[in-house]
Amino acid sequence: MPVTAITGSASGIGAAVSAVLRAAGHRVIGIDRANAEVLADLSTAAGREAAVAAVLEQCNGVLDGLVCCAGVGVTAPSCGLILSVNYFGVSQLLDGLAGALAKGSNPAALVIGSVASTQAGAEQQPMTELMLGGDEAGACALAEGLAQAHVAYACSKYAITQQARRLAKPWAERGIRLNVVAPGAVQTPLHQASLDDARFGKAVRDFVAPLGRSGRPEEIAALVAFLQSTQAAFIHGSVVFIDGGMDAMVRPQRF
Ligand SMILES: NC(=O)c1ccc[n+]([C@@H]2O[C@H](COP(=O)([O-])OP(=O)(O)OC[C@H]3O[C@@H](n4cnc5c(N)ncnc54)[C@H](O)[C@@H]3O)[C@@H](O)[C@H]2O)c1
Repeated sequence: MPVTAITGSASGIGAAVSAVLRAAGHRVIGIDRANAEVLADLSTAAGREAAVAAVLEQCNGVLDGLVCCAGVGVTAPSCGLILSVNYFGVSQLLDGLAGALAKGSNPAALVIGSVASTQAGAEQQPMTELMLGGDEAGACALAEGLAQAHVAYACSKYAITQQARRLAKPWAERGIRLNVVAPGAVQTPLHQASLDDARFGKAVRDFVAPLGRSGRPEEIAALVAFLQSTQAAFIHGSVVFIDGGMDAMVRPQRF
């Protein structure tokens, strides 16, 4: 039975991924702040270390899959928290669990990014470079200074997408596949919170995908399950958009 660790397993996309992988026969080690096999706060270095240690204990040091779904959106209490959870909460788990994945069978890992990672300017933001350099305090201080949650969110998703792609070569040498799934709007509590927010609600409502609707968590989970399966054995280092056509609409010349 494959063993897969899933962050953010208690809600939204992470809960849907947990359900579909359980149905496919995986033993799931969910990681979340509540209602999970491993209770941890991924916004702090200590919480991430505790999460890694607990997962390693529960999987006896051998992991076949890792899916990083935990994240916070633009309504998070602070911009620094967005970077801490969405970038460092993922990169530290990837680093901490790579050794266990290398011992797994057909190991595969996946990061839930976002179509927001392609937002103009994210690449040039100084906080992006600091995240990629591992400077959490510096990156968060810059994010708090900017205080623009949508910029912090886009930068966190751009940086973690780039980090995953940087890992593609060294992880291939260790036999581990790693991909990024970039959803557009998906009907989850995170998305609902942005719709309900006085600052962002109108912009989110007006930004409609060509298919004319938002996605369902189950639709994202089906793609994740495929990418984590051996049917996707040659897909590695890819960023797969699942966004009802949003990315094609906004930047048809980039792919
Ligand atoms: N919903 C969308 O429209 C959308 C679009 C693109 C990308 N995403 C990404 O999808 C991922 C899942 O989001 P969702 O929409 O399912 O949201 P959600 O709020 O339903 O689920 C997020 C989960 O992450 C957990 N989490 C948050 N902070 C945590 C922390 N500090 N420690 C441990 N767990 C923590 C939450 O408890 C929750 O269970 C996120 O990375 C999000 O950025 C969502």
